[in-house]
Amino acid sequence: MPLVSMRQLLDEAAKGAYGVGAFNVNNMEQIQAIMEAARETKSPAIVQASRGARSYSQDRFLYHLMLAATELYPEIPTVLHLDHGNSVETCKSAIGMGFTSVMMDGSLMPDGKTPSTFEYNVKATREVVETAHSKGITVEGEIGCLGGIEDGHGAGLDGLSHLTDPEQAVEFVRETGVDALAIAIGTSHGAYKFTSKPTGETLKMDRLLEIHRRLPNTHLVMHGSSSVPKDLQDIINQYGGKLKPTWGVPIEEIQLGIKNGVRKINVDTDNRLAITGAIRKVFWEKPEEFDPRSYLKPARDAMKKVVAQRMTQFGQAGHAGDYAPISLEAMAKRYQQHLTA
Ligand code: 13P
Repeated sequence: MPLVSMRQLLDEAAKGAYGVGAFNVNNMEQIQAIMEAARETKSPAIVQASRGARSYSQDRFLYHLMLAATELYPEIPTVLHLDHGNSVETCKSAIGMGFTSVMMDGSLMPDGKTPSTFEYNVKATREVVETAHSKGITVEGEIGCLGGIEDGHGAGLDGLSHLTDPEQAVEFVRETGVDALAIAIGTSHGAYKFTSKPTGETLKMDRLLEIHRRLPNTHLVMHGSSSVPKDLQDIINQYGGKLKPTWGVPIEEIQLGIKNGVRKINVDTDNRLAITGAIRKVFWEKPEEFDPRSYLKPARDAMKKVVAQRMTQFGQAGHAGDYAPISLEAMAKRYQQHLTA
């Protein structure tokens, strides 16, 4: 089946009361790891690429690898999503390239660093929604700012200074018509999220519950949702790495979010850790090796294991065959009817 609309995947997830992991990629091995995990667990798949990933893969390599994924895994409903589009132009170029979903992150200015105004965010996001929906493409917006910096994107904030205001979230969704909304509840991108195990207090889960209460029909997105498991940190450090002690988002908190409107969960760091640990292990144990496959295969397997585990924990496992894909043309008609209704 061709790449599908993320809106359809998230609507189905809402019906089935589960979440869908969105995993970042830069290269073939990462795409293969996600698709293999999806096949093994019979899960729908969201593959996402940041601006950094698009430039690393020269865009077209990434797109054609994704076409290969749809050819080789026809039973998996698969979305290609732009993570943290920094401007209307970036989103439009992703749409032109064949992405079936885009994030317009207007919470920051196009420099990806400076927190923006509400008015700027609404204007930029609405413009992307108009273009995207006319082609059946899904749009994720963001209100409030996440902490940390990932792939050069992010204000380097602490994760708590720009939390999402529930009332503004309602206004933002009404003004823009986004399909999914990323909210800031204290998470941040990267490995160094918390210096001790976070509780529901650290993570402001009450705010998430309040946003869901006010926007029961909006698909919520949790960014910065890697759990940064100790065993993955340990492998890296055991084989010469130098990670400092750190904690991520506990799976139980994500599962609580899924019970309260979270439909998309962004995970990148856990996979980076898994890949790096596997490669370090080979380099450490077999310094004579120089065939890239000798370390890229274990790296791919390690990422597949993490992704399959998350797909099971988020509840998407077993749901790949629940529905037939709706074409982007049919999605475009739906948006049009909804707008004129
Ligand atoms: P992590 O760094 O927690 O994996 O978050 C990734 C993310 O939110 C990408 O948008």
